[in-house]
Amino acid sequence: MTPPDGDDRNEWSTSRYEGSHSFVYEYGEDVIELLAPQAGERILDLGCGTGHLTDRIAESGAEVIGLDRSEEMIEEARSTYPDYRFVHADARDFSFEKPFDAVFSNAALHWIQEQDALLESVSAALRPEGRFVAEFGGAGNVSAIVEAIRAELATRGYSAETPWYFPSIGEHASTLEEHGFEVRYATLFDRPTELESGANGLTGWLDMFADSFFSPLSDAEREDVVSSVEERLRPSLFEDGVWVADYRRIRVVAISPGE
Ligand code: BEZ
Repeated sequence: MTPPDGDDRNEWSTSRYEGSHSFVYEYGEDVIELLAPQAGERILDLGCGTGHLTDRIAESGAEVIGLDRSEEMIEEARSTYPDYRFVHADARDFSFEKPFDAVFSNAALHWIQEQDALLESVSAALRPEGRFVAEFGGAGNVSAIVEAIRAELATRGYSAETPWYFPSIGEHASTLEEHGFEVRYATLFDRPTELESGANGLTGWLDMFADSFFSPLSDAEREDVVSSVEERLRPSLFEDGVWVADYRRIRVVAISPGE
């Protein structure tokens, strides 16, 4: 669940992630139900972060390998869960010696614009008729937050591209089909998500996840934009001392081509 580097997207900190953004993997428990891992299966956790969901999947008796492109996350995962194998690799270009029965991914795919490269790697990693089970941000995800950032940037003469891939069901299912997958299940739903750290929740979220919007700004401008974004969003997203982000999820189960 780490953005590709080589661009100006966020540098992730495991301590900030563990401390204030644990909801990311806590919500992932529902996706594990959709995966329905079985004892003896070989499963890849793509974008495993600090490995908590890898551990939850392994409770089923499956053999699970975690993969993430952040070395820091992988080191943390290895130190917390020394019994599992964690691999530092890029989801757009990886391969393994033995095929997997399933590839699982929670809250990672929206960081990857290059879905063709990703799906080629996933397809090659799965056995024939293996399953690909994923949840990530879908069309309209965090749109209120994005609109507020864009509006505040525009008043200061700046603009910024959205760094995320938030597809509709039609768009994503078509891409999966182009890669030979059969889409068995797809849903798009609103999941308003409480941010941790009370009144500081939105600032913390922006710092952790939305850094690239602010890269052209000086520190002072950034502070000003962030506080104006907060004021814009306060009436709609702040209630009883808690920020609630307008998350919208897409969940997909797709089966890889047969032999
Ligand atoms: C998400 O999980 O929906 C998300 C996380 C970080 C940035 C954007 C979206």
